Amino acid sequence: MAGGLDGRSVIVTGAGSGIGRAAALAFAAQGDRVVVADLNAEGAKKVVEEIEEAGGAAVAVVGDLSDQAVVDQVVGTAVERFGGVDVLVNNAGIMDRMSALADVTDAEWERVVRVNLTAPFLLTRAVLPHMLKAGGGAVVNTASEAGLRGSAAGAAYTASKHGVVGLTKSLAVMYRKQGIRANAIAPGGTQTGIVVDAAQDAHGPAVLGPHFVNLGRVAQPEEQAAAIVFLASDAASNINGAILPVDDGWAAV
Ligand SMILES: NC(=O)c1ccc[n+]([C@@H]2O[C@H](COP(=O)([O-])OP(=O)(O)OC[C@H]3O[C@@H](n4cnc5c(N)ncnc54)[C@H](O)[C@@H]3O)[C@@H](O)[C@H]2O)c1
Repeated sequence: MAGGLDGRSVIVTGAGSGIGRAAALAFAAQGDRVVVADLNAEGAKKVVEEIEEAGGAAVAVVGDLSDQAVVDQVVGTAVERFGGVDVLVNNAGIMDRMSALADVTDAEWERVVRVNLTAPFLLTRAVLPHMLKAGGGAVVNTASEAGLRGSAAGAAYTASKHGVVGLTKSLAVMYRKQGIRANAIAPGGTQTGIVVDAAQDAHGPAVLGPHFVNLGRVAQPEEQAAAIVFLASDAASNINGAILPVDDGWAAV
């Protein structure tokens, strides 16, 4: 099977929509068993149905991944149903309101950082004992163009995605001797269900100018998913701590 991942146990967060959905379908298509974790019950259920109809194996876990109890449920489900956790894809995320720092409310900051950065930390911490016991594993995080530069989103989202980059690199270095690889994709604009609830004072394209609009072609979620599946595969066995832009060259500008 492609990537040598046949039959592995894979957790994909935010798998009820967009990039996570495409990744869950792609893993399942190559024979992996997928825990579809999402806040959106309807979306998660539909993806599990799609996978099962195609002959694959998947289970939904519905809940807010910034809640430790939900994280424990996700990891517990992977272990009970699929025998462990070989791959963790921390993909669930939310946009901010495109606010510059002085305009970011406490609530916006807390929520964006909690979902985009703390949830991946909680999930990774929870899967590590299982990966270490099994002798290794792969973690793939969905960062963003906003994890590479200051002109792709508001202050909260940008800080959270730079945090995801740091989390990825720290994990990669500190666990490489134990067979765990950690990488991230940095998507440019991608056609998904993500919502930008721009604030009145949003610092979007009008303020950020040409740096923002240099975002290249809008990608399909499947193009992001292909990079996730590759980074999780044995074909990427010597790739560790990499942040891979999938952005039609935006990061090269
Ligand atoms: N679409 C883009 O242009 C783009 C660009 C760069 C990075 N990203 C990143 O890609 C990732 C996936 O987003 P997408 O574009 O596919 O958007 P999406 O909204 O289609 O999918 C995100 C999914 O995450 C789920 N989710 C959100 N908060 C959650 C929580 N607290 N607990 C559990 N599930 C939660 C949502 O219900 C949704 O199903 C995000 O991390 C996002 O920041 C997207």
